[in-house]
Amino acid sequence: MILESYGLDKSIIDHSRSVALLATRIADQMALDGVKLDSRVVEAAAILHDIGLAKSGGIEHCVAGAEIVRQLGLPNSVADCIERHECITKQETKELGFRDTYCDRDLVPVTVEDEILVCADNLYWIMAKGIDPLNSSAIVDFLYEYFNSAYEKATGHGIKRNHPAVERNIKIIHEFQKYLCCVSP
Ligand SMILES: [Fe+2]
Ligand SMILES: [Fe+2]
Repeated sequence: MILESYGLDKSIIDHSRSVALLATRIADQMALDGVKLDSRVVEAAAILHDIGLAKSGGIEHCVAGAEIVRQLGLPNSVADCIERHECITKQETKELGFRDTYCDRDLVPVTVEDEILVCADNLYWIMAKGIDPLNSSAIVDFLYEYFNSAYEKATGHGIKRNHPAVERNIKIIHEFQKYLCCVSP
């Protein structure tokens, strides 16, 4: 399998498989509700979304992943989806003091497929903590703590609770709430 061939840890491979399962379930639920989307793009992008971790552990792994996927000949729609899964703008990476040199562009969702990937990627960590995907207030608390500690690790300082980079992730989960019954335990 391709993720193994890039030497990724088992934990990343397991995470990628789980995110792909969550993302395809959400995509199927949305398609049933009449939302137009390409579930093949969702599935391919979700399984490969962290392949860039083979090259870099920072937020730029999404750009590195998109490059790998383009070199493999996959469609731009899949590569773009991978590139945007960090859900942060170029300006925000500067303001927050990220040292990554790769982040010369906005890495935020544009299409519904991009949003599904961001939602599923966050849901993986939310559910790993035993939080019900339908428990909105617990999700807000968790996502704030999650980004605060991740950003602190990367930049040496935390993030405000109402920072747009945090709120963008929360907004996507809230917008998707009605489709999350399909992944709720
Ligand atoms: Fe990632
Ligand atoms: Fe991920």
